[in-house]
Amino acid sequence: MTDPRHGGIAVLDFGSQYTQLIARRVREQGVYAEVFPYDADPAQVTRHSPRGVILSGGPSSVYELGAPQLPRWLLAGDALPILGICYGMQALTHALGGVVAPAAAREYGLARIVRRADSPLLAGLPESLDVWMSHGDRIETPPPGFVGLAASDNAAYAAIGDPGRRLYGVQFHPEVAHTPRGADILHNFLFGVCGCAAGWSPSSFIEDAIAAVRRQVGGERVLLGLSGGVDSAVAAALLQRAVGDQLTAIFVNTGLLRKDEPAEVVRVFRDQQGVNLIAVDAAEDFLDELRGVTEPEAKRKLIGKLFIDTFAAAACRLEGVRFLAQGTIYPDVIESAASSQQSKMIKSHHNVGGLPPDLQFELVEPLRDLFKDEVRKVGSALGLPDSIVWRQPFPGPGLAVRCLGELTWERLETLRAADAIFTEELAAAGLLRQGTAQAFAVLLPVKSVGVMGDNRTYEEVIALRAVTTDDFMTADWARLPYDLLARASSRIVNEVKGVNRVVYDITSKPPGTIEWE
Ligand code: XMP
Repeated sequence: MTDPRHGGIAVLDFGSQYTQLIARRVREQGVYAEVFPYDADPAQVTRHSPRGVILSGGPSSVYELGAPQLPRWLLAGDALPILGICYGMQALTHALGGVVAPAAAREYGLARIVRRADSPLLAGLPESLDVWMSHGDRIETPPPGFVGLAASDNAAYAAIGDPGRRLYGVQFHPEVAHTPRGADILHNFLFGVCGCAAGWSPSSFIEDAIAAVRRQVGGERVLLGLSGGVDSAVAAALLQRAVGDQLTAIFVNTGLLRKDEPAEVVRVFRDQQGVNLIAVDAAEDFLDELRGVTEPEAKRKLIGKLFIDTFAAAACRLEGVRFLAQGTIYPDVIESAASSQQSKMIKSHHNVGGLPPDLQFELVEPLRDLFKDEVRKVGSALGLPDSIVWRQPFPGPGLAVRCLGELTWERLETLRAADAIFTEELAAAGLLRQGTAQAFAVLLPVKSVGVMGDNRTYEEVIALRAVTTDDFMTADWARLPYDLLARASSRIVNEVKGVNRVVYDITSKPPGTIEWE
């Protein structure tokens, strides 16, 4: 069977915030794409025999001292087709003898381009197109052999190409949603220019990944830390398929998980998937240690340490384990590579970092080539239920950072009950998978006065938080329907003991963070 990663696209990263998005957009068209630093070793870039190269945008100016330049090997010999985007186009132009210069005005936002010449890159597209621009420099003179394919008011060369050499550049960003026909332009490049075949899909990856795990692990034992989150869950299901009984998963119930979560992890993984699961109930120990700790950073640090200690203690009891499996995914890998500027080596991202030195394992990371949405598709194909595959992100310290003030079992139970009601209402309105990236309840250490029946009440406050975001770096509060908020509020006050008031958090990030602690 041929490797579905072969014959795809290599994306060279010049520092754009959209580089990962380029790779995702290519994969969405059924073509495998991998991201590399612009100056990566050519052997690394070509290991899966790509059929074309996309150069990302970037913040530099090609004439600046030390600005990243086009790697020469790309143009040598039997060169691959290239599409340069924004800075990538400028680097291509500069390397081939064209002229790049600062534009009189920066062009940022929506622009309209008009086609100037026919080309495979813009084939089938209308004469004029809306595109998203973000640049200060522009092409003054294209390199010899290139023609202008499209122009905007501010850039006479908004798209250029040398169809004979299969080299193209666009000043705008076809990968962003604000360029409505961007997918068609990428499609033309992938299939019309590079001759790629649409053979990639997350499930085509499963058989290969299973074979790769078997090759790596042989007959040895593998350990995996199961958090209940999507990535470690999918890694567990895949490893179970690959090595069955050689896998042991450790699940630590910290007492800080959401309602019914520990039972569901055991039901799905032990009973349904047949995983050799060690479930450690450490809830009491965690609460004992956390008694009286209210300062957010102190809570976080203590929970991190307790988690590692508990995991290590359970792992120490197992004998002859050589491998540790982790749910590292592609964005973790790309970010590790980008942050190691000195050595361009790709570091592994340690999800169970901080293990004691006598517990040294070799890592198995079967999901390291996949984006989150692809991990979800693989999870579904492996038979995991939607409740796990579509779970929203959950912070490592769990409910501890949503139960403000003192952590007691009663307060955690109050929070769990309120959170479950909010989640149920969002799910019923179809807003859990789409419409909110993260939604949860927070228990505040504040009491307020209320009235229920004929009685005065003096109880705690639940804040509801729901946000929309693409990357969790910035976020906006979700404009949830009033009716939904009304139902959630009324149910929480009526059904959850100890709560008499519900508020909705309307702070974006920045200035707020998504979590409250
Ligand atoms: P903030 O609150 O910083 O959160 O806006 C951004 C995203 O990160 C999640 N988060 C964490 N995830 N360990 C994690 O694995 C943590 O300690 C942690 N703290 C916050 C948060 O839920 C949101 O998705």
